[in-house]
Amino acid sequence: MYWIFSLQLPKSGRLLVQMRYNVAMKNIVILISGRGSNMQAIVAAAKQQQWSSRIAAVISNRADASGLVYAEQQGIPTAVVANKDYPTREAFDAALQLVIDQFTPDLVVLAGFMRILTSDFVLHYTGRMLNIHPSLLPSFPGLSTHRQALLAGVKVHGVTVHFVTPVLDHGPIIEQAQVPVMADDTEESLAARVLVQEHLIYPRAVRNVVEGNLVLLNDQVVRLSTPTDC
Ligand code: GRF
Repeated sequence: MYWIFSLQLPKSGRLLVQMRYNVAMKNIVILISGRGSNMQAIVAAAKQQQWSSRIAAVISNRADASGLVYAEQQGIPTAVVANKDYPTREAFDAALQLVIDQFTPDLVVLAGFMRILTSDFVLHYTGRMLNIHPSLLPSFPGLSTHRQALLAGVKVHGVTVHFVTPVLDHGPIIEQAQVPVMADDTEESLAARVLVQEHLIYPRAVRNVVEGNLVLLNDQVVRLSTPTDC
């Protein structure tokens, strides 16, 4: 996208300055492992709100991830880097990084990407990789968060969007949303209530980071301009 700025002298009417700025669209690469409902929420928000960034690619570690079908239907480039094809975690992450970087990402978004990532991979994307975790971190990192919440008997549960750092599910928090836990909740009913909130906060967090309103500085989330409240 080009923005053209020009100034004219009022008397002569002659063109004084013309500058062209190439305001390149930012690239968002989304990683999924399954249905990709968060990815779909981000794609839909980007379209509806006319973000000045594009979903450059959706990449999965599983060829059978159903979210890939949706991405293809939306005309988004997709790729599969199957972890089962690589002998080690390091080899897989290196191959994944090569594919991601072909799309020159400004932001990498983990949206239900079910892999533990190596430190080298995570550090390569410092400040430009986000994750969504279905609990109110620091409570319940890891898997089966809704079961953990029910077993702990908490009355409030929720979801967290955070920058990714080498420690699993511990990065600086960008946004959280909470939901009540009902006496008759099952893992499924609680997960469904949390998922509604996921689809609200993740697109907003992605937009605020990719547009530079929120940045990671010295392991802290810093607000540089008023975050979009969409
Ligand atoms: C979501 O609950 C997300 O928070 C977690 O995995 C789930 C993925 O769901 N990390 P989807 O693939 O986005 O529908």
